[in-house]
Amino acid sequence: MEPRKCVFALDYIDETVNAFYEASRNPYHSEREIKWASDVLCEYFDVIEREHLSLKTVLLLEQVKCRVNKIARHNADAHIPYTFSKRKLANISYEQLKMLFEQRRSVRWFENKPVPKSVIEKAVDLATLAPSACNRQPYHFLVIDDGQLLDELMALPIGTKGFAHNVPCSIVVTADLSYFPTEKDRHLIYIDSALATMQLMLAFETLGLSSCPINWPDIEEREEKISSLLDLDTTVRPILLLAVGYGSETGKIPYSQKKGASQLVSYINNES
Ligand SMILES: Cc1cc2nc3c(=O)[nH]c(=O)nc-3n(C[C@H](O)[C@H](O)[C@H](O)COP(=O)(O)O)c2cc1C
Repeated sequence: MEPRKCVFALDYIDETVNAFYEASRNPYHSEREIKWASDVLCEYFDVIEREHLSLKTVLLLEQVKCRVNKIARHNADAHIPYTFSKRKLANISYEQLKMLFEQRRSVRWFENKPVPKSVIEKAVDLATLAPSACNRQPYHFLVIDDGQLLDELMALPIGTKGFAHNVPCSIVVTADLSYFPTEKDRHLIYIDSALATMQLMLAFETLGLSSCPINWPDIEEREEKISSLLDLDTTVRPILLLAVGYGSETGKIPYSQKKGASQLVSYINNES
């Protein structure tokens, strides 16, 4: 907040600290996540005026300090809020970005060549830089390149007719509804996954890979089939599939004409 209040977050600081304890014991979370959480909590306790805190919260503060005193902080790498002027700047022009966007097209014809795990993971590290509601990143990328499983999987969505057989690798983008337990937030898994998947496809392009998004049909019977095929938890929803691979030099790409800003933008109460 600008300007920062002397006291804030009292309504949920105890809950947050307790969640931090739980998270720091959960092996699913990476060291980087725990460092972020502990840096932010320590910064919070540094900047807040202590007299506003309850005794319970002060005790919690001491426990947090014990818990995180082994984690380096107050160094250049502290994972705490920083000023706009200190943000990382990409030296990419509009034209260069446009070229990358134009390079990415839905590719359905691939070389018979495996997709290395390391390349997929490099791309996923860029995908998850996408914004997500509350930064929860509720998605997961299930990579399937095993022959029989891949054949069974590619037969499930409706839009793979004619090219399913030559896809060397498929990524099922799933998301977990339990990240957003209330009904009002259920759609967020679709938005978050779509934003990350777009970044994933662009990252693939920079690594020499091509891709095609494949619709996951919202049909109960298919949901049951894919859940059983991939052993998905009941809270996990398939969002969409990606065909991924090294594009065949001779395979054709449909020309997909895009709309322009004159069709897509309108202004309300703008006099200019
Ligand atoms: C949500 C979504 C679902 C799609 N489903 C399919 C599909 O089932 N089969 C397919 O061949 N292409 C599918 N596509 C690819 C679109 O046909 C393609 O993005 C569109 O024609 C524009 O072409 P471009 O990606 O080259 O810009 C899908 C794309 C999106 C975003």
